[in-house]
Amino acid sequence: MRSVIDILDLSVQELDSLTDTALDIIAHPEKYAHACEGKKLAALFFEPSTRTRLSFEAAMYELGGHVLSVSDANNASTYKGESVADTVKMASCYADIIAMRHPRDGAALVAAANASIPVINGGDGGHCHPTQTLADLLTIRREKGRFDHLTVGVCGDLKYGRTVHSLIGAMSRYEGTRFVLISPKELRIPAYVRRETLAKNAVHYTETVDLDAAIPELDILYMTRIQRERFGDPAEYERLKDSYVLTPDKLAAARPDMAILHPLPRVNEISVAVDADPRAAYFRQALNGKYMRMALILKLLAEADGVPFQAPAADFSTGHICRNPRCITHTEQELPQAFRPDSSEPGVYRCLYCDTAAE
Ligand code: NCD
Repeated sequence: MRSVIDILDLSVQELDSLTDTALDIIAHPEKYAHACEGKKLAALFFEPSTRTRLSFEAAMYELGGHVLSVSDANNASTYKGESVADTVKMASCYADIIAMRHPRDGAALVAAANASIPVINGGDGGHCHPTQTLADLLTIRREKGRFDHLTVGVCGDLKYGRTVHSLIGAMSRYEGTRFVLISPKELRIPAYVRRETLAKNAVHYTETVDLDAAIPELDILYMTRIQRERFGDPAEYERLKDSYVLTPDKLAAARPDMAILHPLPRVNEISVAVDADPRAAYFRQALNGKYMRMALILKLLAEADGVPFQAPAADFSTGHICRNPRCITHTEQELPQAFRPDSSEPGVYRCLYCDTAAE
C-alpha cells in the first residue's frame, strides 16, 4: 500500500511523472472527468485549512469521485478523545483514500500505519506537508520551466513551517539547487533538515537574516507565514511576527524573472501591492495544487493493492522518550516510543514520527 507521508516517499521520477500528469489534466480535463467514478476520498481535517481541504475536495470532484469530509475537529470523535489509529481504521471502512491534516507532528505516519487504504498527509503539525510541495513543484515547472540549477530563497518561519521542510526535501534532489535560508535566528531550519537533507546531499546553502541582501541572487523567493499556532510562548510570536514584509520597494532589487511563491494563507508577510506584479505566482500556485492532488489521487488509487503499509524500520528499545512536546507519541493511545538511527550522524537517534533527535 502506497501512502505519502513525506515528499521523500516519492522518487524524482515519480515527481516528474506527477507533474506530467498534472499538465495533461490541465490540457485535457475531459479525459479525467470520470477517472474516479465510484471512489470516495475521506478528507479528515483536524486543524484549520482552506486551500488544502478545498483543493483535495475539488480534485476528487473533478475526477468524478465523491468526498466524505470532516472539517471541524470539534465536531469529530477526536474531540471525544479518539486516537488517530481508530479514526483512520473507521475511515477505511467507508472510503477508498484518505487525506488527513492533524496538529501533531508524526500523526500522518500513525495514520498510514493503521489505515487499510492509502493515506495522503495534508500536513502533520510543523513536520511535513508533501502535497503543498507538489503544488510548489508544478508552479516552479510552469514559472521557471525547469527544476535544476535554481537559487531558491526561503524566507520566514523555517523552524515550524512544514511546507519549507518538504520543499527543501524535494528541491535538494535536483542538480545545482542552491538555498538561501532567510529567517530570524530563533526560527532557523530544524537540525534534522540541515543534517539529513542539506548536509547529506551536499546541497549548497547559506543562512541569513537579511532578505534585502539576499533578494538580487534569487530565481525563486518562497515566502512563509510565521506559524503562530506552533509557538509555545505568545510573546515570542509577537516579537517575531513582522520579521519580513515583502513590498514593491524590496522587489525593485530582484531579478525581472524571479518567481514569488507562498503556500498561503498570507498574514502580512507579502504586501497586497505585490499581487499585481507578474512575478507574484502564489495564486497560480494555489490552483496548481488542485491539479497535483488530482494526479496524486489517481496514482495512489491505481497502486492501491491492499498490501499493508510498511512503516520504516524502528528501534523500540532505546529507552528514549521523544522530547518534542508536539509529537504524536505524547497523545496517541498506547503508541510506543520508536526511534531510528540518524542517517548522517552515527550514534544519534531520531523519533520515528517527528524526526526530533533523542537526548
Ligand atoms: C500551509 C500549511 O498549512 O502548512 N498552508 C497550506 O497548506 N497552503 C502554510 C501555512 O499555514 O502557513
